Amino acid sequence: MTTIVNYDPRISLRIFEKTNDLAAYFARLLAGRVSDMHENEFFSLVLAGGSTPRTVYEYLAANCREAINWERVKIFWGDERCVAPDNTESNYKMAKESFLDYLPIPGNNIFRIRGEADPDEESKRYSEIAGTLIQADKHAVTAAGPPLFDLIMLGLGEDGHTASIFPGRPELFETDQLFVPARNPYTGQRRITITGKAINNARLKVFLVTGAAKAKIVAQYLGKKKGWESLPVSNVLPAAGEIMFLLDNDAASGLG
Ligand code: 6PG
Repeated sequence: MTTIVNYDPRISLRIFEKTNDLAAYFARLLAGRVSDMHENEFFSLVLAGGSTPRTVYEYLAANCREAINWERVKIFWGDERCVAPDNTESNYKMAKESFLDYLPIPGNNIFRIRGEADPDEESKRYSEIAGTLIQADKHAVTAAGPPLFDLIMLGLGEDGHTASIFPGRPELFETDQLFVPARNPYTGQRRITITGKAINNARLKVFLVTGAAKAKIVAQYLGKKKGWESLPVSNVLPAAGEIMFLLDNDAASGLG
């Protein structure tokens, strides 16, 4: 791990030589947070889609069967493509095949977004489930506002999107609904996404970003370069918790 550079005091940033080191760091972070839970509480982990999260999932499957008390972890998704769960585009399928199938996570701890359902109805159903479940766990209840997920994993697109909040949708950081229908503007693919308030209210937001293709957007956002404020990722704020960026050298190569 190279030195930590501080572009924004609200964001902790760690840069790794290899993606495997990034994945190992994330695994240790998750294990520590889960073990800090009080005995009658559960840890809410929100998964992301994308290539870097997949690498982390594969690491968790290979190395963390014993290191984490998976019975205490409830699994949610930050977004899903509106496809069947066995479709190659499905974030559920990706997570299932890269780690959920290999770890002792009780089936009733896994809360899948039904990509095959009507997006409006499913967004409401999932918002209800997530809200009720998290609210029911007293440690997650805040005086007001959306519930606190313990850890939200997030990817970062080259256009600055995160989850399925794409550029031009600032209202998704204003709505009080936890999950809403969305659309990938480049492919037209329908999505269901977590919204900004639910992201911002989480205890810990961890961005997992690797590859040279992300160097430009990382430099624009962290370096606060021209137009950075209009990027969706710029609306992710520490609000009720922390923001962490885990990068590999390639993704960090544009940082001065
Ligand atoms: C998705 C993700 C999306 C992804 C970014 C980064 O469903 O695809 O929610 O936000 O994390 O596009 O993806 P890569 O890490 O594959 O570049």
